[in-house]
Amino acid sequence: MSFPGGFLWGVSTSAFQIEGSLEADGRGPSIWDRFAGESGDTGATACDHYRRWREDVDLLASLGVNAYRFSLAWPRLFPRGRGGVNPAGLEHYDRLIDALLERGIEPLVTLYHWDLPQALQDRGGWPARETVDAFVEYAVQCFEAYGDRVRRWVTINEPWVHGILGHATGEHAPGERDRRGAVAAVHHMLLAHGRAVRELPGGDAGIAFSLFPTYPATESDADRQAATICDGYHNRWFLDPVLKGTYPDDMRALWEELIGPLDFVRDGDLAEINAGAFVGVNYYSRGTIRAAPGKEPFPYEVISARELDVPLTGGGYEIAPAALADLLRRLRRDYGDVPVYITENGAIFAEAPHDPARVAFLRAHLEAVGEAIDGGVDVRGYFHWSLMDNFEWALGYAPRFGLVHVDYATQERTVKDSGRYYARVARANAVVEPEEVRV
Ligand code: FCB
Repeated sequence: MSFPGGFLWGVSTSAFQIEGSLEADGRGPSIWDRFAGESGDTGATACDHYRRWREDVDLLASLGVNAYRFSLAWPRLFPRGRGGVNPAGLEHYDRLIDALLERGIEPLVTLYHWDLPQALQDRGGWPARETVDAFVEYAVQCFEAYGDRVRRWVTINEPWVHGILGHATGEHAPGERDRRGAVAAVHHMLLAHGRAVRELPGGDAGIAFSLFPTYPATESDADRQAATICDGYHNRWFLDPVLKGTYPDDMRALWEELIGPLDFVRDGDLAEINAGAFVGVNYYSRGTIRAAPGKEPFPYEVISARELDVPLTGGGYEIAPAALADLLRRLRRDYGDVPVYITENGAIFAEAPHDPARVAFLRAHLEAVGEAIDGGVDVRGYFHWSLMDNFEWALGYAPRFGLVHVDYATQERTVKDSGRYYARVARANAVVEPEEVRV
């Protein structure tokens, strides 16, 4: 199965998950620096990429990719959040971008992948509207610094995960447990996206959403309604404002019942949010949903994939490539001809370096993307999560998502079979047959 000319074959990472060196060269603190989730691990060293970036650019080149999605660490560039740029931070990403371009690898730069400068958190963080202004200033300075070489930008990564896990459930930094604050945080991230896009002097910018297609467990009205609510919570609450300039009425009513009037949504905000040249789709799995009256925050339950007769990743999620093709077709059906990048897709599998399960996962998902393209969806690139094993937020270093294995004791990188397979796909611009499985 061949892909269109110019298709981007990439891998994805984020600054906090790989860089380490949290105190080097004038970086300021971020909300994740001291936040140890349930694993107790922190990002203090991660993959030591801040120091090993040259080696990692060679690694990228060896994978045959023509694109690389990474994020800028806001606290490296603006250690106090606003004002006072840190020249060492600017130079770091300057060199990284140049080194990528020298090897024919296009940078897709994420401005914000969850590492909010602590100074902004101290002034209220994303639940406070002031953070929108800080983000737009930051974005404008990044566009000025790198816009001559970076043509494609992702404004914000996964406002659902960062908004809800960071501000409602407290599982992620900043560890808040305030539903109203979480919905305000989401709104402010969306507004920050829309305003930043409008400041972009040239090139394309979009936002990356964690999309979670929902399927009712049975055809009963109750389960179907439950799946619609879950879809509203994870997907429509984000897609509708960015692509149509509205919040969905059903979800707005449900939120208002729970947290009161959404008075942080001001006149004109939704028109500003309705912006972007593409949508970034982060896809990991689908949800099978059943009605669960009384369940918080909404009356549904995502059935654990372990209870279903379905193939599982090492993380216990359903391997569901067909739902990715459905999701892409649904985007076109419900939102029109919007360009899409798969900005993340991947899975936890422990085996390394021979990881046949990841090879199979990759191949099946790429075929799903190819099928959607054949069906008319404008998918322009695929970025596998992740280049290498890294700091998986609250879960720490145990879950391994990489095409490249990282030995955290020595920082040695070893390309897995999946990395070799992906290199063949990227070079062929086509989904090729895997080589014979070695065990
Ligand atoms: C996504 C995040 C990314 C990574 C993957 C596994 O939710 O955007 O940073 O943690 O999941």
